[in-house]
Amino acid sequence: MNVLHLSAECYPVAKTGGLGDVVGALPKYQVGLGVNAMVIMPYYDRKFVAEHTFKIVHQGSGKLGYRSFDYQILKEDSGVLGFDLYLVKIPDLLDRPEIYSYPDETEQFTAFQLAVLEWLVNSNIKVDVFQCHDHHTGLIAYLIQNSANYKTLAKTPVVFTIHNGQYQGWMSWEKFHYLPGVDPSTGGLLEWNNCINPLAAAIKCCTKYTTVSPSYLDELSINSNGLEFLFELEGKKGIGILNGIDIDVWNPKTDEMLDTNYTPTTVKSGKAKNKAVLCEQFGLAIEKPLVVFIGRLVLEKGADKLTELIKEIMLRNQDEVSFLVLGSGEKQIENDLKELQSYLKNYNCYIGYDEQLSHQIYGGADFILMPSRVEPCGLNQLYALKYGTIPIVRSTGGLKDSVIDFENQGGYGIRFEDVSVLQMVYAVQRAIELYKDTKKVAQLRKLMMGLDFSWTKSANEYVALYKSLILKS
Ligand code: ADP
Ligand code: GLC
Repeated sequence: MNVLHLSAECYPVAKTGGLGDVVGALPKYQVGLGVNAMVIMPYYDRKFVAEHTFKIVHQGSGKLGYRSFDYQILKEDSGVLGFDLYLVKIPDLLDRPEIYSYPDETEQFTAFQLAVLEWLVNSNIKVDVFQCHDHHTGLIAYLIQNSANYKTLAKTPVVFTIHNGQYQGWMSWEKFHYLPGVDPSTGGLLEWNNCINPLAAAIKCCTKYTTVSPSYLDELSINSNGLEFLFELEGKKGIGILNGIDIDVWNPKTDEMLDTNYTPTTVKSGKAKNKAVLCEQFGLAIEKPLVVFIGRLVLEKGADKLTELIKEIMLRNQDEVSFLVLGSGEKQIENDLKELQSYLKNYNCYIGYDEQLSHQIYGGADFILMPSRVEPCGLNQLYALKYGTIPIVRSTGGLKDSVIDFENQGGYGIRFEDVSVLQMVYAVQRAIELYKDTKKVAQLRKLMMGLDFSWTKSANEYVALYKSLILKS
């Protein structure tokens, strides 16, 4: 079975968050199950590309409205990722260093999808299932079913995975002419609230859609940035499959980015050594419980509440806790967090993106805070569990599906209900109390590290889904 994953990110080629982690891992686990899983993504001018050899496997041209473009399909030569990786290179459009944030993002991702389809109809690569990730690949299902140019692909099932329903790739109707060979009467399939909405189009046209946790599937019809009604209508096509973690990358026993490796048996001393390195680097007191936040500094993650929470907790429990933040995002939140550095003791932050530092933090922290408003799955808490770091999470989406409060049967984390500073303060205070009970902490660490959130189970669920679709098509 040939499955082609289409994505804007794939670790370690290019990553800004969990989408990259998932697309860098899931195909590898699928290959392990006997599926020929391949990934195709835009070409970015980044370290991975510079350090690896690629072969041009196809060249062609396409049209984005009135603009013609030439494209190349490059294939990674060594197979180092555990699956075939293809890149789409388009001069002046898909050959830049950043993944997102260019003003012509619509043109970038539309041209990416068109080039993939042009390649497939003009080569002998066979695809049994398209596995599309997020709105950047949301037009594929519509195009294969409605464009005269891609008729030969019309029957191929499309599984569309929603990692983040907040971003939908909205395009104005003036750009409809970017889509070749389509009849304007099919425009209703693209439409949502007076614009072309690639996420909505994907939900309407895909064979099945999946969400990255079962709870998020339920939440979409209540909270999905304007698409609630659509999710209610199309709900029968939805399946929730919880993400896993790639234990080749995220394993404290073998993680080369950690100062000290450790196992469930050596977790106490291993974490203490990693914590000492962190505390030294960031000027934090080693004897206090270390609470950390890692992630995008945006509203979705509840990051706007961090400054207030940290001030409040330092006021109430000044000498009892240390705080460390690693993240980047909205400038206001970044500035507020930086400002705190000038007058708070036992607090520090690193504003920016640093993969190695994130590993060291999972390894050295005692608690990780995730006050997310929306969390389709969340990988941080899964990494934290594997590294024996107790998650403090708001009960939403994948956080709800993967963290049980330690006061409940079989529990190991700390949960709270609302994105309110008071509830967060109370949750951190519970962490401070828990930390004093060293026996309990040791017991929870062992329990968490023994949980199995690896990809094996979820990769199987995807494969079973693909098989059922191929049988029907
Ligand atoms: P999302 O995809 O919504 O950002 P996830 O929890 O699924 O959230 O995944 C976030 C991923 O990005 C994790 O691998 C996390 O460690 C990583 N990450 C987020 N921010 C940073 C950062 N500033 N530096 C390094 N890694 C980061
Ligand atoms: C998204 C979500 C996050 C999820 C990740 C990987 O970025 O915000 O919750 O873990 O995708 O699926």
